[in-house]
Amino acid sequence: MRAFGFSFGLLQGATFVLGVSITDIQGPAFQSPLRNQVVHDVTGIVTAKGPTGFWISGPAVNDNRVSNGLSVYTKSTSILRQVNVGDEVSLSGRVSEYHSYFSPNDLFLTQLNVPSNIAVLSSNNTIKPVVLGIDKSPPTQQLAALDVYGDLDGFLSVPNNQSQLEVLNATLQPEKYGLDFWESLEGQLVLVKNPVALNYPTRFHEIWVHGDWPVTGKNQRGGLTITFGPDGYPDANPEAILIGKALDGTKGPDVAIGTTLSDIVGVVTYQYGSYRILPLTASTVVDTPLFDVPATGLVSNANVCSLVMADYNVENMGPRSHHLSTIAEHIVDKLRLPDLVFVQEIQDDSGPKNDGTVTANLTLTRLVEAIADASGGVDYGFVDVDPVNNQDGGQPGGNIRVAYLYRRDRVRLLPGSPPGGALDSTEPFLDSTDAVALTFNPGRIDPGNDIWYEARKPVAAAWQTSTGARFYTINVHFSSKRGSTSSQGNARTPINGRVDVRTGQANITATFVRDILSLDPSASILAAGDFNEYLQTRSVFADLSEVLHDIDETSNIDPVERYTYVYDQNTQQIDHIFVSNAIKERGTEVEHIHVNNWASSLKQRTSDHDPSVFRVRVCDNDARSVASSYFSQVLYALDTFSRLFERLLW
Ligand SMILES: *[C@@H]1O[C@H](CO)[C@@H](O)[C@H](O)[C@H]1NC(C)=O
Ligand SMILES: *[C@@H]1O[C@H](CO)[C@@H](O)[C@H](O)[C@H]1NC(C)=O
Ligand SMILES: *[C@@H]1O[C@H](CO)[C@@H](O)[C@H](O)[C@H]1NC(C)=O
Ligand SMILES: *[C@@H]1O[C@H](CO)[C@@H](O)[C@H](O)[C@H]1NC(C)=O
Ligand SMILES: *[C@@H]1O[C@H](CO)[C@@H](O)[C@H](O)[C@H]1NC(C)=O
Repeated sequence: MRAFGFSFGLLQGATFVLGVSITDIQGPAFQSPLRNQVVHDVTGIVTAKGPTGFWISGPAVNDNRVSNGLSVYTKSTSILRQVNVGDEVSLSGRVSEYHSYFSPNDLFLTQLNVPSNIAVLSSNNTIKPVVLGIDKSPPTQQLAALDVYGDLDGFLSVPNNQSQLEVLNATLQPEKYGLDFWESLEGQLVLVKNPVALNYPTRFHEIWVHGDWPVTGKNQRGGLTITFGPDGYPDANPEAILIGKALDGTKGPDVAIGTTLSDIVGVVTYQYGSYRILPLTASTVVDTPLFDVPATGLVSNANVCSLVMADYNVENMGPRSHHLSTIAEHIVDKLRLPDLVFVQEIQDDSGPKNDGTVTANLTLTRLVEAIADASGGVDYGFVDVDPVNNQDGGQPGGNIRVAYLYRRDRVRLLPGSPPGGALDSTEPFLDSTDAVALTFNPGRIDPGNDIWYEARKPVAAAWQTSTGARFYTINVHFSSKRGSTSSQGNARTPINGRVDVRTGQANITATFVRDILSLDPSASILAAGDFNEYLQTRSVFADLSEVLHDIDETSNIDPVERYTYVYDQNTQQIDHIFVSNAIKERGTEVEHIHVNNWASSLKQRTSDHDPSVFRVRVCDNDARSVASSYFSQVLYALDTFSRLFERLLW
């Protein structure tokens, strides 16, 4: 406070304070030292004006925790007419810490409310925005001091919401923590040079960007991937900032990930769960990336032990979905006809209609027919297990499930066991040849376990190559993150919706893998699908990583290129492929094919997930295994023939 500032008594529940500066109001912490007080004689230069107020800026202090900008809230058109950008004004008002009643997890925004006694002291003053990247740059890894480090996973540590930022109201550490950094600029006019879009626009036309400042986790496309930082903790990309609605009402441009925009000048504020810059006017597109997505280089070859597989969440695909034919084209042209495809979100035969239908023969038949049409006749079979109606979450009536598509000329289900029903729990056992088989093939894993409440049950299957070698797959679609809170919200760590459920689901999956390995430690096992979780949430994968290896790791993929999904500011991987030791030892390859997240617009996207293609060796293709499998090869040919015959008769 200025030397002559003083306060006198309580009036209408508020203290009157004379001659305060903007920096006095902002203070060095999340909340204002003058919260709820009526202040007079606040002076500043108007830096921006919008439909719900204006922003003023005063002299800075030599303390980088303290903002010298401030939002003045008013919808009064007569007040808004009274002030112009460039005016130096003095005014009175009440200091408030605002968040919407409907968003209790939002951080507070420091505002001057009910402005009065407005006097224009001078006009046409020059305004200099804070140039981000030159005057100040955001930290690049951690969001908040309250996120837990030590042995834990930083902003992804569990349990969540053990503390709240606004309750603690710590003084800011803007060099270290992203939320503290943006808070220290609250109300300021800033300049973002060469912004690069990190996601498609939100439905409110807001755009996540980073500007011309140091960033980490940047992938070749231009997005920021969730990775581990140099100190081993998850990197939350606090250097990203949301560009909100323009103050002059102009509409933000359509962008894709990696689109470069014109420079943005705007004010820093907080709304709807995130810090954001409200631009004076909407930016425009300067440069767009190429939208071609190269096809995978991993293609099935003559080696029967070397199989190419893919994983693809096809987003609520029913038999009449418009995107079914595009999914088929992706499988043919971009994934290049893998030997086995793990798919998720196959809807039942009536699609989203809530009519008791649970079968998906029609959906899957249409898909394999579309693949055959687009590929000149490549013949895929399919495998799934019908759920109990409306028990597996997702769109009501859709009955989404996981399924496998497989090339009949390359692999087949291991015969000898019946397929499981919705409630049958498949278990591994040693068959008469002393090799691992499954009691139900395919079969669900522990479907009666409460951990799968309103979730897709994983489907395990035992397979054979044409030389008789066996391998085992688990196709998963874990519970979604519904109920999560913004990474920039009050709850620390942010609430990661149903993280405990996914942890339990990973545990059950790990137990099943362990059961196979206890019968055959050299079993070739793959678990793939939509895990709805990043590997940086290590606690979820702790059990699974004891028995399986992440294929991105065993294939040495650059950590920034490990992504299949984009959410808010983060490019991220929630679809994973895990392999057993035997497969790891033989060498793996994987490619994430960004057919969806490199699309030119949200509308051009077919699914919200990108598929992945991977090559694994499920057997050693040495002379011994080939010779010993001659007999099974003959059986395989006979079996293939009889299936073909069956189909012809059908
Ligand atoms: C927040 O911290 C500031 C600065 O330390 C202090 O003046 C203010 O009273 C605190 N507000 C609350 C609500 O704790
Ligand atoms: C400020 O500048 C505008 C245009 O440049 C001019 O019209 C106006 O008279 C100026 N106002 C003052 C108070 O100098
Ligand atoms: C976080 O915990 C606090 C204190 O228990 C509680 O008031 C708040 O509602 C929780 N936040 C969310 C988003 O659940
Ligand atoms: C789907 O498969 C089931 C079980 O094999 C069969 O009973 C049913 O007739 C099939 N439905 C269609 C539409 O083919
Ligand atoms: C699953 O969790 C239980 C209890 O938390 C633990 O004892 C068990 O080892 C876990 N299973 C696996 C496969 O890690």
